[in-house]
Amino acid sequence: MQIKDLAFKQFINKSKIQEAVRGLAQQINTDYKEKTPVFLPILNGSFIFAADLIKQIEIPCKVSFVKVSSYAGTVSSGQLKTLIGMDASLFNQDVIVVEDIVDTGHTLQKIVEELKSLGTKSVEVVALLRKEHAREKMINVKYTGFEIENEFVVGYGLDYDGLGRNLKEIYKAAN
Ligand code: PRP
Ligand code: MN
Ligand code: MG
Repeated sequence: MQIKDLAFKQFINKSKIQEAVRGLAQQINTDYKEKTPVFLPILNGSFIFAADLIKQIEIPCKVSFVKVSSYAGTVSSGQLKTLIGMDASLFNQDVIVVEDIVDTGHTLQKIVEELKSLGTKSVEVVALLRKEHAREKMINVKYTGFEIENEFVVGYGLDYDGLGRNLKEIYKAAN
């Protein structure tokens, strides 16, 4: 499979993804059964994961979105371009940040800092993918679907220069 100049091969198939998402939802259903969490998916990448995850949440919950962006091509720039959607409605809430992937951890670190300054009651993170080796910031990700090596992935919401988010499975760069 080719996107622009890069060749990709299949990495995580649909059933593996669905199994992981189901497991994450079950843990959250258990841990938050006395609470009403606010899911906070980080746009754009987490939109498909967040939808599949939240469909399997069986406790009362709310959903609100934040938008940031830090990638240029295949490399995380470390510079966050935008950060919108963080507001006073998150005060005193049990927030669950939803990410498709944690790479360097810069995006999450910034978001978690901002959330704490808004006076949230608690903040946890659910990430479908986490790159253990590329992590620069010590960010605690309570719920993780897959730990992956430092490789470039697309599909299921993840993009290469904006392309590939629609793919049903997760692919990795072939070389
Ligand atoms: C990607 C991904 C995470 C972030 C992870 O988003 O969706 O949000 O990078 O990288 P980090 O841990 O190094 O900060 P991106 O900035 O590409 O924006 P997008 O979600 O709109 O694709
Ligand atoms: Mn993102
Ligand atoms: Mg991206």
